[in-house]
Amino acid sequence: METQQMNWSALKDEAVSFVKTAATRIVDVERESLHIDTKEDADDLVTDKDIEIQRLMTDQIRKFYPTHRIVGEEGDHDDVHNDDTITWIIDPIDGTTNFVHQSMNYCVSVGIYQRGIGYVGIVYDVKSEEWFTAVRGLGAYMNGKRLPKRASVPFEQAILGFNARWLVGKADESLKQGFQTIVRDVRAVRSYGSAALESAYVAAGRLDGYMSLRLSPWDFAAAKVLLEETGCECVKVDGSPISIEDQSTYLAAVPNVSQEFLSRLQ
Ligand code: IPD
Ligand code: CA
Ligand code: CA
Ligand code: CA
Repeated sequence: METQQMNWSALKDEAVSFVKTAATRIVDVERESLHIDTKEDADDLVTDKDIEIQRLMTDQIRKFYPTHRIVGEEGDHDDVHNDDTITWIIDPIDGTTNFVHQSMNYCVSVGIYQRGIGYVGIVYDVKSEEWFTAVRGLGAYMNGKRLPKRASVPFEQAILGFNARWLVGKADESLKQGFQTIVRDVRAVRSYGSAALESAYVAAGRLDGYMSLRLSPWDFAAAKVLLEETGCECVKVDGSPISIEDQSTYLAAVPNVSQEFLSRLQ
């Protein structure tokens, strides 16, 4: 069976080298003019560079691993299926709005899955040159230093990653009231604009939770492995398990913070 033969740690090293190549190219293209388009709405940006970087990564993966499946945000892509095929789930630039407007706080995200289980997670912050990496069962690392398991954090001292748009958007009123209670009860709320980075920050102890009402598999595939390796929870906002096959609501948090968060949404 492929899982038993697969050396996930070696595959992680290979994936890191692909991400390095992508990041080098991103630094280069930042000096070029961007062609900016919109997707579902006027604030949902995509650039020609997102597409170019995904193609670069896809070409590399296909060359070395022709039997693997690749799922990425941009352009034509397969869906994720929880089957035997080793599946790379990539977001070439997570935080495109930051890439366009701020030139910081964006990352490359790569998760490698088989049968719905995440084995490799890589989140690379291109500007701060921070690597967040994990291999299932072998721990999570930040710039080569092992990240400890997250300990409980009193909810009133928790720092949450939270996009304020969820307070005014289409969500039903009782959910929005629950969010207001949460924002009131925690110590502080931050919004960095990259789901993958914010989730990696939960694993690394910079945030104690991160929530979104809509994320796609490429937004959280890599970070989910980091979170699992640091003892964090990764669930939907109704507390049910997240599937890597679907777009869904998302809560990544230290377990006691997750429980406190969910209890305020009842
Ligand atoms: C987006 C970012 C953003 C999150 C959005 C994502 P993109 O990804 O992660 O923080 O709020 O839901 O779509 O489009 O920049 O790759
Ligand atoms: Ca996007
Ligand atoms: Ca994304
Ligand atoms: Ca993206």
